[in-house]
Amino acid sequence: MATNRTFTMIKPDAVTNGHTGAILNDIISAGFKIISMKYIQLSEISAGNFYAVHKERPFYGDLVKFMTSGPIVAAILEKENAVEDFRSLIGATDPSKATEGTIRSKYAKSIDANAIHGSDSDENAEIEGNFFFSQFERF
Ligand code: RTP
Ligand code: MG
Repeated sequence: MATNRTFTMIKPDAVTNGHTGAILNDIISAGFKIISMKYIQLSEISAGNFYAVHKERPFYGDLVKFMTSGPIVAAILEKENAVEDFRSLIGATDPSKATEGTIRSKYAKSIDANAIHGSDSDENAEIEGNFFFSQFERF
């Protein structure tokens, strides 16, 4: 069943390079409403669990290391067709292949430091939002 929510993280590269405000502005301007938001630094255990689906992939170690390298902004977002529209807004995983004007095309430097995460399905949006926010922090 389609839902109208997705989950995002502004990744350590984008936060450290001062792009948090501009990225939030892009997200809000594209019509997404922020439901819940927090600014935190992930532990290795949390990042490892979040990306557990990629455990067997060659880039897993680097991914966990990168995601724990500095603070992130995690948020639950709401909009009609949220998952698909948000993936369009952020652009391809590899920023050199991301469409011009997308968040990754504007703010990401490499496939590892790619500025932002967006859930890839309604099911994962729910799982990821629940991973970061307790039932008292979701509205
Ligand atoms: P994300 O989950 O972070 O939104 O990114 P995504 O869906 O576009 O890409 P995904 O396949 O879920 O991969 C998660 C993150 O792992 C890194 N990655 N590196 N070197 C590689 O081939 C490779 N592939 C993926 C990226 O940083 C990606 O965001
Ligand atoms: Mg993904």
